[in-house]
Amino acid sequence: YSEEELYRPEFHFTPKANWMNDPNGMFFYNGYYHLYFQHYPDGNVWGPMHWGHAISTDMVTWVEKPIALFPDEKGYIFSGSAVVDANNTSGFGEGGKIPIVAMFTYHDMDKEKQGDIDFQSQAIAYSLDEGLTWEKYADNPVIKNPNIKDFRDPKIVWDAVNKKWIMVLAAGQEIMFYSSKNLKDWEFLSNFGENVGSHNGVWECPDLFAMQTEGTDEIKWVLLVSVGSGGYNEGSATQYFVGDFDGKTFKIDPTFKDHLDKNNASWIDYGKDNYAGVTWSNIPDTDGRKLFIGWMSNWQYAIKVPTEKWRSSMTVARELKLTKTDNQYQLKSLPVKEISNYVSKTVKKSSISIEKGKRTLLTNNTLVDFKSLDIHFKINNLKEDTYTFCFDNKRGDSIKFGVNNNKQFYFSDRTASGNISFSKDFAPNISKAPYAANGNDLEVRLLLDKTSIEIFYNNGETVMTEIFFPKNPIEAFSVKSENFNFEIENLIINELNFN
Ligand code: FRU
Repeated sequence: YSEEELYRPEFHFTPKANWMNDPNGMFFYNGYYHLYFQHYPDGNVWGPMHWGHAISTDMVTWVEKPIALFPDEKGYIFSGSAVVDANNTSGFGEGGKIPIVAMFTYHDMDKEKQGDIDFQSQAIAYSLDEGLTWEKYADNPVIKNPNIKDFRDPKIVWDAVNKKWIMVLAAGQEIMFYSSKNLKDWEFLSNFGENVGSHNGVWECPDLFAMQTEGTDEIKWVLLVSVGSGGYNEGSATQYFVGDFDGKTFKIDPTFKDHLDKNNASWIDYGKDNYAGVTWSNIPDTDGRKLFIGWMSNWQYAIKVPTEKWRSSMTVARELKLTKTDNQYQLKSLPVKEISNYVSKTVKKSSISIEKGKRTLLTNNTLVDFKSLDIHFKINNLKEDTYTFCFDNKRGDSIKFGVNNNKQFYFSDRTASGNISFSKDFAPNISKAPYAANGNDLEVRLLLDKTSIEIFYNNGETVMTEIFFPKNPIEAFSVKSENFNFEIENLIINELNFN
């Protein structure tokens, strides 16, 4: 197999060629979901940043478009966001055309090289052709650097209650909140993060949005903050906070403190490969979903992964939900429902008896094509045992996952997944996630796409996303328990087809 055939995902977005990192500027307009991304079109490692662009009608399959924003004399184009300015608050609209306004960070390399610390500032650009081409604003930057070294990744959100734009920005290890009436003049409001959250790395790519707590009328605000290192399984990862925002200040909900782990954080994904993710803007109220996508890699090894032609993919687009059980807020994620439109074959088994200590095959490549699968199953009444699921091939490459119900953790294990030697940080151990008990019943949904696994435990309460690079394609799916026989209930294996 050539690298291309073996490693390029079937449906997760990858750039046609060269480097990609964070998703940027996502908005929905006129039937299309737009996805921009940190892109270096001239090389397969990080370099002068552009905004690449892709569009989709369903967030599952993507069409890459021409580059949207190029670096210029003011700097590289770092991460940011975009909004549909339907009321033309910016005045950029012309001849009845609705402007799309993007806000990004200029990173001035020359200033950085000189040793100055004020090399990042915020700038805007607008598009009058639905996001295809962009005009940078003549008076950029719109927010100058206030002498803070890391000062970047503006995410704009419309505050419908206070009728103004709110912007969240990562500044060192804090979040700064700003507001504006016209997207050009920005007023500083407040900051957040001093005594809470993981501070093991620089804060990046924040997002702020209001959500209804499922099954209630209660509205809470969720703040996402990516942190460069010190994730639950080391490396870069994205934390979240649930609280209230009054148009000026974000306050974490007092009950949410109980939700924080040893790093004082709570994670949207416990796998090693979901970073810098944010949500789409302008999703119609009739839809009402909070839709998220992340970069499916980790700064620990992103520039070393064994693909040459392209580097990095995005996660599957996910719907976020906020739940409250036993007085605990929890952000859940599941793949967008649109994925089910691509099911080409289904293998179903209502119940399978598994004998302890024995590897039991659940399916293999004579029954389904392993390129991309969407799998669901349940186990009721977990015993004090370890339940290990395994994708592998005859060569012996394996990706394992499951639950250790003795020590109470979920895991994902790529330590024998094939090519792991490109970085010592790629698979030093198995990855773990804290166990969120569900009356001892386990429900699993997972997506497999050639070089990635996204595991959604208990309806998306705990998520683990990990990439891997097997030397041969995966051919089989099996399971093993150690000490107790058990039943797998409602196994559904959906083969996905994108041709
Ligand atoms: C996050 C990040 C952002 C920055 C961008 C640069 O991965 O470091 O903070 O804007 O990548 O490419």
